[in-house]
Amino acid sequence: MKTADLQIPESVKDVIIKSGVMELYPPQEEAIKAGALEGRNLVLASPTASGKTLVAELCALKHIVERNGKAVYLTPLRALASEKFEEFKKYTTIIKKDGKRVRIGISTGDFDSTDPWLERYDVIITTNEKADSLLRHRAKWMDEISLVVADEVHLLNEAERGPTLEVVLARLLQVNPDMQVLALSATINNVDEIAEWLKANHVKTEWRPVSLKEGVLLQDEVQYKSGDARKIEKKSGNSLINLALNTIKSGGQALVFASTRKNAATLARKIADETQGVLSKPMKRALEHEAEKILAIGERTRISESLAELVRCGTAFHHAGLGGGHRKIIEDSFREGKIKILTATPTLAFGVNLPARTVIVQDYRRYEAGYGYYPISVLEYKQMAGRAGRPKYDKTGEAILIAKTSDEADFLMENYILARPERIWSRLAVERILRSHVLATIAADFAHTENGIFEFFSRTFYAHQYDIDAMRNIIAKILKYLYDEEMIEVVGNDINATRFGKRVSELYIDPVSGVVIRDALKQKTAFLTDMSLLHLIAHTPDMGPPLRPYSREVEEIAVFVEEHKEEFLASMPDEWEDRITYEQFLGEVKIAMTLHAWTEETSEDQIIEKFHVQPGDLYRTIENAKWLLHATCELATLFGNKQVLPLALEVRQRVEKGVKKELLALVKLEGVGRVRGRIIYNAGYKTLEELKHAPIEDLVNLPLVGSKLAKKIKEQVGGFVKKDKWEKLGEEDVWKQKALTEY
Ligand SMILES: Nc1ncnc2c1ncn2[C@@H]1O[C@H](COP(=O)(O)OP(=O)(O)OP(=O)(O)O)[C@@H](O)[C@H]1O
Ligand SMILES: [Mg+2]
Repeated sequence: MKTADLQIPESVKDVIIKSGVMELYPPQEEAIKAGALEGRNLVLASPTASGKTLVAELCALKHIVERNGKAVYLTPLRALASEKFEEFKKYTTIIKKDGKRVRIGISTGDFDSTDPWLERYDVIITTNEKADSLLRHRAKWMDEISLVVADEVHLLNEAERGPTLEVVLARLLQVNPDMQVLALSATINNVDEIAEWLKANHVKTEWRPVSLKEGVLLQDEVQYKSGDARKIEKKSGNSLINLALNTIKSGGQALVFASTRKNAATLARKIADETQGVLSKPMKRALEHEAEKILAIGERTRISESLAELVRCGTAFHHAGLGGGHRKIIEDSFREGKIKILTATPTLAFGVNLPARTVIVQDYRRYEAGYGYYPISVLEYKQMAGRAGRPKYDKTGEAILIAKTSDEADFLMENYILARPERIWSRLAVERILRSHVLATIAADFAHTENGIFEFFSRTFYAHQYDIDAMRNIIAKILKYLYDEEMIEVVGNDINATRFGKRVSELYIDPVSGVVIRDALKQKTAFLTDMSLLHLIAHTPDMGPPLRPYSREVEEIAVFVEEHKEEFLASMPDEWEDRITYEQFLGEVKIAMTLHAWTEETSEDQIIEKFHVQPGDLYRTIENAKWLLHATCELATLFGNKQVLPLALEVRQRVEKGVKKELLALVKLEGVGRVRGRIIYNAGYKTLEELKHAPIEDLVNLPLVGSKLAKKIKEQVGGFVKKDKWEKLGEEDVWKQKALTEY
């Protein structure tokens, strides 16, 4: 089917043809035959890179241009939302019937807002979590949605985030019963079941733009699914590394999935030792430049240094312990073909668009803290394998599992390569998960009676797969909890949220976190410090599992706890009576100590060294802390707690910026983060007023400031600078130039 023959507005065709798509891929054609453009609900399950997004684009534009509709595009990850936003931008040249241009919006941030400005957009790209929070605020524009696209819908199977997606879909369908649903998924076994739930047609294909060869590597021989085999040249004692080097030599790139972060890093290091001979001179220069970029972003830490060293050798690792800035540089330079071999934990298989000629799966097992090793699912393997083959660059892609013995090779062939992906199961009926959704159902006016609540949950995928009766007991238990904790009130058959319950629901926190914070706010304490608040939020379930202290840390944290025990707002478990809870408590204190070190301006590198946390984990903890401190401020306002509120506001700002109180004014300036703020402060400019009177050449000469930033600071604080002086501030040294990111 040609793009030109599609039943869509000419202006949309023009944009698509201009982007290089003259003809549809087979899965796209099937989706259209299944009624996607006529408004039929559809589940499209098709391999990686088979062009599912374009089907969503066609449907969205059809709604907007022909029917004056509004589309929402749901993704599981923020990074994916930005990717889709970029892809949709090309349509903003199109004029709608009302004479206005098509507008594309993205919203992934603040969970405590209705974002009324989104009303102006025709396509809104958002994450499942943000959509859930918008529904809790009953954002008005959500009643006007005529199309919802749910991307990566196999996510329903994920314990933590799958339930959010199914609740969001059920709610959107409740609000807009006539809305069209388009669900996009990897190839899964029970597409028909998801389709039935959504009252949709379904299309299931195995079509790929680049053909895929799957095989198992045992020592120096790859055995393919098709029956043929291939020998790999031996360069080192490690067969995986030989395979990776072989890929570079044949002009390709390899993506290696490791079972743990540590394995990913170790493997990258071993690979780096071997790549010298295979990298050309120009390549090495390009890589040197990438390494510089890594060092220039954020604070210098041992992790950024070792990463830069690896990048110089054409390799890198990628996992959730890295900060977002570093991850982005690595992803981009792998995409540009500079980094040749990337080792990663399996999180990368999900969502991020990073194809490679060869995908290598180091271990079919995966490690999870507190659980141990377990075999990955076929679905997960297929997701990883699906990354093999770069459209337009490679003729075929290869996905290779590594076996240690011939028995294991047989096992892998049978249980992964030849196996079919599992069925997807709803994970909704878990008390911890369901609690906030039950509260939200009441607080956001989706239901006001017990039957109404059951009726709502009977629209979920869980109820479709099992039965609503399987959920009744859990819901009843949750209602009792919410009632006992005064989040809901009952009058006759009517259930209503209290102000507390409503606010907790809007704040997008677990009701248990709401209770923990409320109980702390009710206490009178004589020793309220920033540690009190940092521990309080670490004590809530929304902070995630406590950091497990290493045995050598236990003593130090226990001493700290003893010294600060009057500051804690949550009651302290007895060390001897309940050892497990006590250690958990120490873990929470460790989180609080980490955050405290951050707000005391301890360098990132020292935090990594002292607390054994990686930057990515630190940033996530900071993000969570900001959110929970916001919730604390809001609940303190609600309960009229005047003691906690000012401190919570201050600690929130300090956590956001990672500074002591005295720096708060300076770090409000654009371009000034915790490091530069400290330099400026120590140079004697402690307030904005003092900066206003600072001679500009003094600022220029400060370490890490330079003329560009000095100018930017002056523009923000005002103050008089002579014209010729200002103009002379053109050139500056390279090191200061590149430090334009805020730190
Ligand atoms: N008909 C087509 N002709 C040429 N290129 C196409 C066509 N359709 C899509 N593409 C290109 O194929 C690439 C992959 O498409 P897309 O991102 O939609 O994959 P996907 O099916 O969503 O995969 P994933 O499961 O990884 O999300 C994109 O770069 C897109 O521009
Ligand atoms: Mg996709």
